[in-house]
Amino acid sequence: PVPLTPLVGRRQALTDLSRLLANTRLVTLTGPGGVGKTRLAVAAATAERDSASQAGELVDGVWLVEFSGIRAGTPADLAQVVAATLGIRDDAPRPLPGISPFTTTPSLPHRLATALRDRRTLLVLDNCEHVVDAAAELTDLLLRTAPGLRVLATGQEPLGLAGEAMFLVEPLQPADAVRLFMERAAASTPGFPRDPDAPDEPERRAVAEICRRLDGIPLALELAATRVRALGVRELAVRLNDRFRVLTFGQRGAPARQQTLRAVIDWSWELLGAPERIVLRRLAAHTDGCDLAAAEAVCAGEGVARDEVLDLVTRLVDRSLVVVVAGPTGPRYRLLESVAAYATERLHEMEDPTAVRDRHLLHYRALAEQAEPRLRGAGQRPWLARLDAEAGNLRTALDEAVRGAGA
Ligand SMILES: Nc1ncnc2c1ncn2[C@@H]1O[C@H](COP(=O)(O)OP(=O)(O)O)[C@@H](O)[C@H]1O
Ligand SMILES: [Mg+2]
Repeated sequence: PVPLTPLVGRRQALTDLSRLLANTRLVTLTGPGGVGKTRLAVAAATAERDSASQAGELVDGVWLVEFSGIRAGTPADLAQVVAATLGIRDDAPRPLPGISPFTTTPSLPHRLATALRDRRTLLVLDNCEHVVDAAAELTDLLLRTAPGLRVLATGQEPLGLAGEAMFLVEPLQPADAVRLFMERAAASTPGFPRDPDAPDEPERRAVAEICRRLDGIPLALELAATRVRALGVRELAVRLNDRFRVLTFGQRGAPARQQTLRAVIDWSWELLGAPERIVLRRLAAHTDGCDLAAAEAVCAGEGVARDEVLDLVTRLVDRSLVVVVAGPTGPRYRLLESVAAYATERLHEMEDPTAVRDRHLLHYRALAEQAEPRLRGAGQRPWLARLDAEAGNLRTALDEAVRGAGA
């Protein structure tokens, strides 16, 4: 995916990473949620692709594989996600990719390894933390089988494989943190300058204070920047100060950076209206985001009407809690990892998640049924693209169906 905003800072990190990737076949970016691992991995992979094509080298591809949606999984489950991303399909006919339990046969990792054997590929395996053992096992197999393969993984911890190079993603340098904050604040606040030197002295001090308070964590900076419009930077700095004064007593134990991010997401959450909260926590039932139709089907229900969903989602986008990316059927709405984790917690606290999961299951079952007769012959391509985009949701729906049948 092409990020919609420019990368701020990270020049040294990109140089270091490119050197590492030249000498190591497995590099893992680690660091706390929201620090910018995914963003840096995408930038590094893009740079690899550009320099390969400039050198006139033939690269079979640079691919971003997203594991964030998978809650638990075997190496075969992960292999399926990789294969779907790369467009590698099994020869055996399968009417409903992603939804038949028979698609995850034990040999899939091996078939994938074989398919990659003669290719030069860079795989970005994003968000390995939930599935670190399976990801390690799969990565090990793939790297052993495919000599032209390199893997750039991201996660809160390393995979623990021999030969793995670890790269700790640091928070942004103070000057870059200020730049990111100014960029985001300017984007959402009419009249607010992008240039860090433009505001007057007290405002510049307030901005520096905010960035320091937020530990230079990009996600925290983005969330806070959405409040500049309502509060201005000086008031925002004061409010953050109060907040952290309260929080340092409440939440000892957690590492400081996690505490910061949690505090900022908490704060963003508290500022939402009730219907926005409902939509945000129900959106978390999706895996790898969803399109508008799914958001309407899954988020509408008690407290929110279907025709309000678009409006509420748009407001969450404005608050940086939901990210819009281009998908095969129009915009897709996704939650960043840390926001999704937070929203899932809230979903479980605040309502019966079964009803939400049932609506999710119904929606994706209907999609699978609608797709089935259209997967052969002319017109199959858009449907295949659509099912690929929804592979995570189809898998989640299948898990839910299996759980329901077993209960
Ligand atoms: N260097 C950067 N420049 C601009 N935006 C960034 C940068 N690093 C992170 N971000 C933004 O901050 C948010 C969190 O980053 P992300 O890469 O998702 O963190 P992580 O993967 O570590 O949880 C995203 O919205 C991302 O676009
Ligand atoms: Mg990430």
